[in-house]
Amino acid sequence: MSNKNQTLGEFIIDNQAHFPYATGELSRLMNSIRLAAKMVNHEVNKAGLVDITGAIGSTNIQGEDQQKLDVIANDIFIKSLVNRDIVCGIASEENDDFIQVSGAKNDNNTNYVVLIDPLDGSSNIDVNVSVGTIFSIYRRVTAVGTPVTEEDFLQPGNQQVAAGYVVYGTSTMLVYTTGHGVNGFTLNPALGTYYLSHPNMKFPESGNIYSVNEGNYVHFPQGIKNYIKYCQEEKEDRPYTSRYIGSLVSDIHRNMIKGGVYLYPSSSKSPNGKLRLLYECNPIAFIAEQANGLATDGIQRILDIKPTALHQRVPFVCGSKKMVEKVAFFMQE
Ligand code: AHG
Ligand code: MN
Ligand code: MN
Repeated sequence: MSNKNQTLGEFIIDNQAHFPYATGELSRLMNSIRLAAKMVNHEVNKAGLVDITGAIGSTNIQGEDQQKLDVIANDIFIKSLVNRDIVCGIASEENDDFIQVSGAKNDNNTNYVVLIDPLDGSSNIDVNVSVGTIFSIYRRVTAVGTPVTEEDFLQPGNQQVAAGYVVYGTSTMLVYTTGHGVNGFTLNPALGTYYLSHPNMKFPESGNIYSVNEGNYVHFPQGIKNYIKYCQEEKEDRPYTSRYIGSLVSDIHRNMIKGGVYLYPSSSKSPNGKLRLLYECNPIAFIAEQANGLATDGIQRILDIKPTALHQRVPFVCGSKKMVEKVAFFMQE
């Protein structure tokens, strides 16, 4: 039973029993993410007042300029997870390689690895537009007590035990799933507490919003071009509305509430699209499916892709079921 006065802390404990290995370890991990998200929220809110906007002068492994807040958010999440001895490994957009966590208390004795996009939508930081955090959690596949290996991170998305995102928007929300539906919690900034504000979130089966960076139109595959033209056609329920923030988390969050489809397709310039499979597409796909939506690379289910590299990219189509199916129809034609 969901109760709108319930705090995230209470919800995590109440729902611990849902989970097959209910030892409390995953709950402690979620608590640590909840705290780190509050700290990042505090930093994001100060941007503009203190010198934390703009680029830091370095690039990540993908050749993208790192923003100061990318690095700050990354440090906050990593420290908060490492200091609590609750994960055995972390992979992040901002780190070339995964991190092996060997805690003082129990060397490699924990079961979970976390993959994160600590700050999603970095290009929006300097202009006071919503940004986010995305996280994905797996049980390790190598033996407990040994250092984690790449194998622990390169699991298909269908093996995720939990995933979520935080949107630092007009209000800050944490939305997550452990495979039993999707729930959204809004941060009351005065109290520093998240309350269950959006129980059992679902994508409407269809919608009238399409979200794509149309500046890349000429480089898109013909199927995607045809779908965009379909969205713009004058028909009973069309043309659809175009909405694109440029922060994946915010675009997905809006479409989940209102009904819509998000597309970051392949293009002649980037054959695998832009978004990263492990810490952007898989967690968002897990949430989408748990919320009655779909996520594909245009045709195939995202969660069934067997990853081959930590920072691998994949074309991404995600949102209301009927709209994602329509995109696949155009792609197959
Ligand atoms: P990040 O800031 O973590 O690198 O992610 C940016 C991603 C995603 O949030 C967004 O939807 C997309 O890049 C926007 O890309 P374009 O500017 O190419 O549209
Ligand atoms: Mn991102
Ligand atoms: Mn990022």
